[in-house]
Amino acid sequence: MASEILKKLQWRYATKKFDTTKKLSSDKLDILKEAFNLTATSYGLQPLKLVIVSKAKMKEDLVPITMGQPQVNDCSHVLVLCREATLTNDYIKKYFNKVEQIRATPREILAPFESFLTITFSEKSQEEISSWMTKQAYLALGNLLTVCALEEIDACPLEGFEPAKYDAYLGLEKLGLKSVLVLAVGHRADDDMFAGMKKVRRGVDRVVIEM
Ligand SMILES: Cc1cc2nc3c(=O)[nH]c(=O)nc-3n(C[C@H](O)[C@H](O)[C@H](O)COP(=O)(O)O)c2cc1C
Repeated sequence: MASEILKKLQWRYATKKFDTTKKLSSDKLDILKEAFNLTATSYGLQPLKLVIVSKAKMKEDLVPITMGQPQVNDCSHVLVLCREATLTNDYIKKYFNKVEQIRATPREILAPFESFLTITFSEKSQEEISSWMTKQAYLALGNLLTVCALEEIDACPLEGFEPAKYDAYLGLEKLGLKSVLVLAVGHRADDDMFAGMKKVRRGVDRVVIEM
């Protein structure tokens, strides 16, 4: 007997056809925003931001820069998972300011970890830092997909888009951001043939190795 959560994970699928008449409620949207913010990230640095597109014209304009995939037009909201363009020492410092303030932790207790992180990142190339930030966006995607499943929000994750064109269209450069992933959310159309398809997975016996 599958647990409730496994049933929900079976229920979800990468939605290909959204019901264009159904919009996500603001309550559901708020859950997704909070879930994004609650995503665990490496060191807790959260080098991410979520851009939410709901304007009809904008969603329409995204189709040609999303490999022609209609989900970004037909869904209720397009979530664009972004990373910081760069990670500065000042960013790290602001994170520790927040820890100090929220947890009332004296700075001298935080100082060793703060200098460890500052040094760690100063030793990485820009490429390594970008790749690290991109990985954090994937974590957020995984988290959002699970939350969507639990909340019965239909979703399609999309890597098939042109990040540089998204960045230009959404004006992300002046926000100091780069798009990493897209998540179209809303409600499935009654006739989305993909909804009824069996899951294709390698199988627990193939993907799990117990030692
Ligand atoms: C990171 C990522 C990128 C994806 N990109 C696309 C995409 O561009 N277009 C699309 O239709 N599906 C995309 N998918 C959906 C996958 O094809 C789908 O999740 C996979 O085939 C498993 O099927 P299921 O999610 O329906 O169980 C993507 C999924 C992930 C996790």
